[in-house]
Amino acid sequence: MTSEEDILLHYEDRWDEDVRLSSSGLGQLELIRTQLLLRRHLPQPPALVLDVGGGPGVYAYWLDAAGYEVDLIDIVPRHIRQATERGVRAALADARQLPVPDNTRDAVLLLGPLYHLQERDDRLQALREAIRVAKPGAPLFAAAISRFAPAIDGLDSGFLDDPTFAGLLESVIATGRQHNPTENPDYFTTSYLHLPDELGNEMRDAGLVDVEVLAVEGIGWVASDLDERMAREDDQRKLLELLEQLETEPSILGASPHLLGIGFVPG
Ligand SMILES: C[S@@+](CC[C@H](N)C(=O)[O-])C[C@H]1O[C@@H](n2cnc3c(N)ncnc32)[C@H](O)[C@@H]1O
Repeated sequence: MTSEEDILLHYEDRWDEDVRLSSSGLGQLELIRTQLLLRRHLPQPPALVLDVGGGPGVYAYWLDAAGYEVDLIDIVPRHIRQATERGVRAALADARQLPVPDNTRDAVLLLGPLYHLQERDDRLQALREAIRVAKPGAPLFAAAISRFAPAIDGLDSGFLDDPTFAGLLESVIATGRQHNPTENPDYFTTSYLHLPDELGNEMRDAGLVDVEVLAVEGIGWVASDLDERMAREDDQRKLLELLEQLETEPSILGASPHLLGIGFVPG
């Protein structure tokens, strides 16, 4: 099976991405933190936003409701259907070859493709495509999964006790490349897990300027009562303040499940 077939099998048949950001405290934290970070640099609406690897359209729908004009691109037909049902304008295409004219978007989101492309050249191509379609000065937001996320998750969830998971983990930590030979969707699918420095370096090598890399959920996932904490307004606010304070601390960036790289198209 090719990497693409494996990714399609995961999202079409084994995993419902549509509910990931709403069905747990951790998903909600990822959503809220990502929205906060996007808002810091997005131009004021109305503006043209391209959401590449936008999945079922949770972010595109939110941006659309805020007054942006959004187009979503993804390689999974189920996600295109789910996004379309949300009222999002969505098309099937690959991040490495966008069906979008040069210099036309005020901001580009790449919240998914970089962690599913295992080859550095492919990730750079996806970043260069995003730069090609963006206007000079536009922000580009690129998500990565931390190299150490499965180690922390494996401990927390007990997956580490499964010898198959433990074996996979050893190779992920060494190489960043993740494969899932099992049918357990919790072990994810073909992916590449970044070291924090690596994400920023790839973005700079692709041609972006003023790049910074921030922790999305940060250490938030160690809270044993995260679901309840996210449901209590005051506790959620305290957590968000702490995560903001720590979001660029280099010594713990890799402890965050997701990293968000923010860079700008030169010019
Ligand atoms: C975990 S989902 C994230 C969805 C959404 N962006 C979010 O952050 O919630 C990763 C998405 O990236 C998409 N994807 C993976 N490789 C891609 C590629 N080469 N081109 C476009 N989309 C891709 C997947 O189909 C999936 O919808």
